[in-house]
Amino acid sequence: MKLVPKSPNGNPGKAEPLLSVGDSGFKKPVSRTRTIRIDFRNVAIAPESLMDKFVIRGGNPLVGSVRISGAKNAALPAMAAAILTDEPVILENIPDVRDIQTERNLLVSMGAEVELGYGRASHRTTISCNNLVNPEAAYELVKTMRASTLVLGPLLARMGRARVSQPGGCAIGARPIDLHIKGLERLGASIKQEHGYIEASADRLRGGHIIFDKITVTGTEDLMMAATLAEGETIMENCAREPEVVDLAALLTKMGAKISGAGTHTIRIHGVEKLHGARHRIIPDRIEAATFVIAAVLTGGDLQLINCDPSHLGSLIQKLEECGVSIKAGTDSMRVTNGHQLEAADISTEEFPGFPTDMQAQYMTLATQSQGTSIITENIFENRFMHAGELARMGANIKVKGSRAIVRGKTPLSSAAVQCSDLRASASLVIAALVADGETIIDRVYHIDRGYERIEEKLKGVGAQIRRIGEILPKRAAAPSVVA
Ligand code: EPZ
Repeated sequence: MKLVPKSPNGNPGKAEPLLSVGDSGFKKPVSRTRTIRIDFRNVAIAPESLMDKFVIRGGNPLVGSVRISGAKNAALPAMAAAILTDEPVILENIPDVRDIQTERNLLVSMGAEVELGYGRASHRTTISCNNLVNPEAAYELVKTMRASTLVLGPLLARMGRARVSQPGGCAIGARPIDLHIKGLERLGASIKQEHGYIEASADRLRGGHIIFDKITVTGTEDLMMAATLAEGETIMENCAREPEVVDLAALLTKMGAKISGAGTHTIRIHGVEKLHGARHRIIPDRIEAATFVIAAVLTGGDLQLINCDPSHLGSLIQKLEECGVSIKAGTDSMRVTNGHQLEAADISTEEFPGFPTDMQAQYMTLATQSQGTSIITENIFENRFMHAGELARMGANIKVKGSRAIVRGKTPLSSAAVQCSDLRASASLVIAALVADGETIIDRVYHIDRGYERIEEKLKGVGAQIRRIGEILPKRAAAPSVVA
């Protein structure tokens, strides 16, 4: 299945995505396809799913094996990297989550062709940016996913100009992108910010020396991508060392980039004239894996996780062993069993390889079931305790003071109506509901759909009692419009 851009009057300008259906041989002539126009404003987020809720009856141990999907936070920069070449980039193990849909819509709105695999290839995406007509990331898309700003560096490097909406505020913190902008200016870009947009231009970026004021994951990724086509060498210091950064460097290297030091605090990039196409398998999602580990621990289950990479979860495994959990880790699988009383243990979120902030909320749920007092310190984002109030509604004993949350356990959790505020907070509520006595209703689960692939089906597959209910809206509003 291929998404191709076509402007309504055939002239360049704001592209209107069209969809063509046919068996997805990339080189196959277009004539074998049948054209169906899909109105993407409805495709990205079908209105009814905004009303979806989960109903979860707690008390069932998770038993069996669950397959972990590809990493959302590795797939998003990898898709943006396709902008750097006019040849096809084939990405495998792409998770089928909402943020990936948004990224696809973003690329198509610029003029890219995005081919979605289906059936056995449903986790493969082929992106071709040989006809980028519109180097812009519009507010409508960026406001739904701030990672859209990852196209800034690649567009500037490849097209010499980019217009990207400022991401605006976020539930978990201010999250400015000033370090991305400062870095691009050090590579010779001229940048102005007006009317909520970043307007950037550069004939050709020049290699430079960047020392990040603060460790930033997407900042490191954005600048690393930009530097691949810059003139000369770029040295970046105080870089993020996350596995997703290393995975992006692996893809860029396959595309012909000259990069060394990814995974350390200092990355060197020798710019090249041109990059070429490549095929790359995205790493497993360490945060999804860690979420299932904690769910298995708290439900007293016996769970095998497959298609995961335990080496990315060192800090979590160590912390859980400190709490008394036994985890058997293989190279691409893990087995979690737990029958004993959990002991309380403090955490403080740090950049990789420290304890990930994206696991703080799920760990808080665990701390409510541990014997004793756990102090949770959030060092990365200034407003990432929204889940604490919802967990307290289920009976948890949590006191939040600034960047610290003091959790006293063990306290039995009881079912309640709760609502999600952001992606990882949603995961902490789902885990709490799996433990709670009774039937919990979780509202606004569209947050969890952004980063977890069909979580309710995966949980059901290992014994959880969970179902998704949606407000049935009149069919007309929901269904995407199709013009044969
Ligand atoms: C990435 O966000 C992840 N998102 C986040 O995952 C994750 O929580 C975060 O890294 C930290 O691990 C993706 O990879 C798409 P940062 P990012 O720049 O890159 C400040 C999830 O749940 N900062 O490393 O946006 C910033 O405000 C998401 O999947 C600046 O001040 O995070 C924060 O306090 C949520 N200026 C700190 O640095 C900048 O220009 C770290 O943020 C950039 C960042």
